[in-house]
Amino acid sequence: MAKFIVQKSGPLMGEVEISGSKNAVLPIMAATLLCEEECNIMDVPKLRDVDVMNQILMRIGAKVTDELEQENKLTIATPEIAATEPPYGLVSKMRASFVIMGPLLARAGRARIPLPGGCAIGARPIDLHLKGFAALGAKIVEGSGFVEAQADKLHGTTVYLDFPSVGATENIMMAAVMAEGTTTIENAAEEPEIVDLANFINKMGGRIKGAGTDTIKIEGVEKLHGCTHHVIPDRIETGTFMLAAAITRGNVLVKNALPDHVKPVIAKLRECGVSVEDTLEGLRVDATKGKFTSTDIKTMPYPGFPTDMQSIFMAFLTTVEGKSTVIETVFENRFMHVSELARMGANITTNDRSATIIGGQKLTGAQVVATDLRAGAALVLAGLVAENFTEVDEVYHIERGYEHFVDKFSALGANIVKESPDTNNYNKYGKPDEK
Ligand code: EPZ
Repeated sequence: MAKFIVQKSGPLMGEVEISGSKNAVLPIMAATLLCEEECNIMDVPKLRDVDVMNQILMRIGAKVTDELEQENKLTIATPEIAATEPPYGLVSKMRASFVIMGPLLARAGRARIPLPGGCAIGARPIDLHLKGFAALGAKIVEGSGFVEAQADKLHGTTVYLDFPSVGATENIMMAAVMAEGTTTIENAAEEPEIVDLANFINKMGGRIKGAGTDTIKIEGVEKLHGCTHHVIPDRIETGTFMLAAAITRGNVLVKNALPDHVKPVIAKLRECGVSVEDTLEGLRVDATKGKFTSTDIKTMPYPGFPTDMQSIFMAFLTTVEGKSTVIETVFENRFMHVSELARMGANITTNDRSATIIGGQKLTGAQVVATDLRAGAALVLAGLVAENFTEVDEVYHIERGYEHFVDKFSALGANIVKESPDTNNYNKYGKPDEK
């Protein structure tokens, strides 16, 4: 497996440009199935997950023009649906692909999707997605390893989500856009990615109101058309680079960020004593001065502290003197990074969904494994301040969600190189071994 070799680096300095949001673009790509015409999507990050979603859409009948390398642009048109059963091999690579179920059901009246597996952070059930489809009038059949939804016509309804699930909100919203009548989603997820998806669908001629609040109304329309849309910046990549500045005691300008989308991260960094300034050029994170204090984090659905930032903020807290606590309320198993950080010398104890960090210990480099993309990012950040070298293995997790990860960190002064199995004749500095 490819790995990152991270060497203790000085304070990160300079500026970084945030890419388009992975968690916004994936459902937007799925939403292109709702119409026959061409959709132009801009500011798309070049990521492994985007490639997988493209492959799935093409198997369903979409024509995809991929100009990600040239200008971070995708053009997707699905004149007709060729298949309503994407292959297991592709869907199993990325559980987020489950959001094609709603648009397929709306456009073709049928979808048969392999059940998305769980993953390191939790069982990742889909009961709320299916509850929504059934409420809209779809017939649901769950078989061994797959789930099928069928409906000649979907009818507007009111759906209450027992948990404000991001994916379920997105899937039900897309299934409802051409239903007969109006659908109300109560206790809906309020994440910025939901708002971006609703904006995209409204540009297609949809009638969605209330996205970003806990009550979303979708008025069914006859037909949708193509559109052009710019994806919002990635708020978790934004937070990742803010914390990279903080953990290395650096000074970094995070450009193309939307401060409103990272309010909890800004608030918590300021609580620790890190300077965060919203300037015209971007978010300036200056951690070069002062002694920082510990703090407590509790992850919550948006607008609370994002679960995707939990492991990354924990890495920073291991370097801050004093006791901090982290409570993870969104996923049932999102402390897989704790044992890896402990291998680097961090003092962390966990009890169910709560972790206690005694910060200030010196971290030392070790061989560690990324268990999910955010845990992988957290381990790289820890490696930047740990003595000697840290080898972060299974970095494909990280490359699923961060565009140009190594280049962006290197440009800020980080000592990080990628070592792939086929380049193991390179030395740790990423240079060919001297003969
Ligand atoms: C989205 O996952 C994100 N992924 C996740 O980001 C993010 O951590 C998560 O939302 C929470 O913010 C994408 O957008 C592609 P959920 P999703 O449905 O939609 C329970 C990353 O690092 N639940 O809001 O799968 C579930 O078990 C990824 O980029 C049900 O019980 O998250 C979990 O405990 C990781 N039944 C909670 O809701 C359901 O039917 C939150 O899940 C669905 C979910």
